[in-house]
Amino acid sequence: MPQPCSVVIFGASGDLTFRKLIPALYNIAADGDLPAALSVVGFARREKTDDSFRAELHEAARKFSRSGLNEEVWSSFAERVFYHRSEFGEAAGYQRLAERLAELDEERGTCGNRLFYLSVAPSEFEGILQHLAAAGLNKAAEGSWARVIVEKPFGTDLATAQALNGVVSKTFHERDTYRIDHFLGKETAQNIMVLRFANGIFEPLWNHRYIDHVQITAAEPLGVEARGPYYESSGALRDMVQNHLLQLLCLVAMEPPTDLAADSVRDEKVKVIRSLRPMTPEDVARDVVRGQYAAGAIGGAEVKAYRTEDRVSPTSMTETYVALKANVDNWRWAGVPFYIRVGKRLPKGATEIAVQLKNAPSVLFNKGAEDIGANVLVIRIQPDEGISLRMQCKMPGAALRIEPVKMDFHYGTSFGKASPEAYERLLLDAMSGDATLFARRDEVEGAWHFIDLIENAWHAAGPQPPLCEYPAGSWGPKEADDLLARDGRNWRRM
Ligand code: BG6
Repeated sequence: MPQPCSVVIFGASGDLTFRKLIPALYNIAADGDLPAALSVVGFARREKTDDSFRAELHEAARKFSRSGLNEEVWSSFAERVFYHRSEFGEAAGYQRLAERLAELDEERGTCGNRLFYLSVAPSEFEGILQHLAAAGLNKAAEGSWARVIVEKPFGTDLATAQALNGVVSKTFHERDTYRIDHFLGKETAQNIMVLRFANGIFEPLWNHRYIDHVQITAAEPLGVEARGPYYESSGALRDMVQNHLLQLLCLVAMEPPTDLAADSVRDEKVKVIRSLRPMTPEDVARDVVRGQYAAGAIGGAEVKAYRTEDRVSPTSMTETYVALKANVDNWRWAGVPFYIRVGKRLPKGATEIAVQLKNAPSVLFNKGAEDIGANVLVIRIQPDEGISLRMQCKMPGAALRIEPVKMDFHYGTSFGKASPEAYERLLLDAMSGDATLFARRDEVEGAWHFIDLIENAWHAAGPQPPLCEYPAGSWGPKEADDLLARDGRNWRRM
């Protein structure tokens, strides 16, 4: 259960606050799930009053709330929102914050519980954490708690992630540190464990004996938008694979945890990360494709090349697409490749996991050239969240014709209501003290270890693997198709 608390958002004038955090808190309120005693304090540098801040948030919630805006719910929610102006590096600003939070405890019964949300550039983390500690805000009184939520990017490589973890751990205990990965809050991502461990049918098949390979795809039609400077220093591998896609891979590949406690689940995910086969530069050259979008068209509209986007270098070597083959070297997954692809400016937005089973034996119906295709279990993370199973069926009629059909479950139709946004679930969990859907220190560092080997190979002195162009609106470079074709496989048509 979410507990009474004050949520302090650092970076309250930022995009994330407007697009995600406030709409999420509003929707939790609209569903009646916010703790009765809750205050939200926006901490930022710009000059604003409580009222002007509320007015801006009202506009944002109207635009971005998934359930629309009910003015009555908004008014009672907005009464609990406050603005605190301070520079991030101004010690007195944190003293004033401490006083303000103590007043709110008195006025609103928030019980001394504090949830600090760092929605700021990573370069600000250390300063903010030090000031919180100097103002005594990282320590809670007996019976209360102080937690910190840290937004991505969590480092840019293993060394910076370790340094950042070092900084955070000086101020907050690991059990009070919530590293957010919003993919873990997506309803269907959470359903992977339920699908696997609440059903008897799948788990006996969930291994190298029956599964041929797994494909994880995250496709986006959007380009780099206004995020040129960030993206230039990141690229698709760090932006999406290191965190979101490796997390999905872990959920698919992990062993059943002994129970549902946060650390039991995260222990199993860490074991998967540790089992990822480290890549040599030769492996990277063979098994990782990096691409960048050239000019093209999406949905009939012309779009420009990555190199001509705002604040992007005209000679940029940053990848906007990655396809790779990963191997999980453990008993369950020996010999089963996990293919991952992620890209911007692809024809449509879709994230899914496809688990392809081995072909039926080549007798009776599956002989010679007559390849009838394999069973595929598809977990659609977004949009149209759901799960489908492809199987072969006989077409009605006298002739024996076999066609693939799908058993399909759609969240929308089965449960008749929209799934909550990832941030809603994650904020509620952090208020409840449940860290299961947040990344633990060793997960993040392990993932960077895997990713660094690829980045190092890409940026090594001497010959580097090529950066392959693909037209915006296509499904990525041809080299990504070759990667699977070499193994006698294809990417799924989405
Ligand atoms: C973010 C990345 O973490 O995830 C973005 O920084 C990406 O580049 C986004 O667009 C995708 O998230 P979602 O929820 O829209 O699929």
